[in-house]
Amino acid sequence: MSSDGYDLMMVANRLPVDVTIGTDGSTTWTRSPGGLVTALEPVMQRAQGAWVGWSGSPDVEHEPFDNDGVRLVPVTLSESEIALYYEGFSNDTLWPLYHDVIAPPTYHRQWWDAYRKVNRRFAEKAAEHAARGATVWVHDYQLQLVPALLRELRPDLRIGYFHHIPFPPLEIFAQLPWRAQVVHGLLGADLLGFQRVSDAANFVRSVRRFTDLTTRGDVITVTDDDQEPRQARAASFPISIDSRQVDATARTPEVVARAREIRAELGDPKVVLLGVDRLDYTKGIRHRIKAFGELLQDGRLEVPDVTLIQVASPSRENVGAYQQLREDVELLVGRINGEYSHLGKAAIQYLHHSYGPEEMAALYLAADVMLVTALRDGMNLVAKEYVAARTDERGVLVLSEFTGAADELLGAVLVNPHDIDGMKDRIVSAVEMDPREQRKRMRRLRRRVLEDDVATWSRSFLEVLASVPSHAGAPPSAASRPSGTAGPGSAT
Ligand code: G6P
Repeated sequence: MSSDGYDLMMVANRLPVDVTIGTDGSTTWTRSPGGLVTALEPVMQRAQGAWVGWSGSPDVEHEPFDNDGVRLVPVTLSESEIALYYEGFSNDTLWPLYHDVIAPPTYHRQWWDAYRKVNRRFAEKAAEHAARGATVWVHDYQLQLVPALLRELRPDLRIGYFHHIPFPPLEIFAQLPWRAQVVHGLLGADLLGFQRVSDAANFVRSVRRFTDLTTRGDVITVTDDDQEPRQARAASFPISIDSRQVDATARTPEVVARAREIRAELGDPKVVLLGVDRLDYTKGIRHRIKAFGELLQDGRLEVPDVTLIQVASPSRENVGAYQQLREDVELLVGRINGEYSHLGKAAIQYLHHSYGPEEMAALYLAADVMLVTALRDGMNLVAKEYVAARTDERGVLVLSEFTGAADELLGAVLVNPHDIDGMKDRIVSAVEMDPREQRKRMRRLRRRVLEDDVATWSRSFLEVLASVPSHAGAPPSAASRPSGTAGPGSAT
């Protein structure tokens, strides 16, 4: 931290802590689980940085406070802003649009207005707390306008942006009525990070199509109104997990014992299949369960020899498409269980819950085959967690080719989740895979996941961002000058 503010700042929709409001109106903050927080915490602590984000609840007005050596700066959202900006534009317009329109995106001008307004609020908070020449790292699709809004307020900053979800092909992105504004919003950043090479390439194609700016390879020359031309770069930085931490958790005697206990509680089936997802239509949960049901119907897999554990953690429950998905999944699970379960031995163990890291590691260790069958996924960290937890070098990862992880995790059994017959065959071959082959593949997977962890990811992004020439000498922009003072060369 410098005397005039913070030298390193994160700006994300969510704070790294969630708030709980007591019946007496008191606020308690609990650390939200997640790789991003773990990854960024050490660097933030070292830099004594600040994190701007939303608490997860409506109307929480709270002064900035310190938490584990990081300054947290809460942004207040009203109930209606949550409905329009978060549930609406972020999760019912952008989320489906950016995931191959698996669900139809809804376009509402009122949602867009709220998105702009809330993005401005985040940008203002960041501008208020950043030191001169600071580095500000903006995260994800909820905040795509923040880079440009922030640059307008503070041209002296070095701005990075990371897009955690896919960036869609031009032909799909073209549907968005506000596509040009979104591209310009993102181009406020000096460095734009994407999960896959193809995401970065999709973005650059959209820049060429929806702006007049010139691009050369992954570099875009941006000409802001009253500033010198500058260069923005779009490149891939595949995110990862804190693999050492997952590995260490999976080695503790408690977790190893819990994994054994889980299998015993299931009646010691020969084969345990596992799916772990947020209950989201992009995850291919229906496709996976359909394939499993057909395998039981065909007699290629049989209860009680085999069981499928499906953890589906609650998510975005006020959005219609998520409510519909829950109905569909639960109907399907009910039908399959009604048809194929035995007394005390369910075909599918369906768990609509979230679990902590120890229980997750035990589930991973207890599973012979992990099913990651997303229809589209920016990366999919569950696939990486499964690999990091398999300290015994056993287990098979069945992985959708439509995940970012598929680019990196050579050694997985790749599937196209739309091809139900193909997926059934791959699941059977995973179940039947000989232990030597399992070990060979798992070793390869583990090397990759343990080497490229989330600390490497954040370090490499921040290093590239640090190599961008500083703008600290930039004159204040019109937007950041106190009213009444004119900038150089501007008419008064
Ligand atoms: C994805 C997004 C994140 C988001 C998370 C959980 O991973 O990339 O930005 O935070 O889903 O979704 P939620 O809407 O609960 O924040």
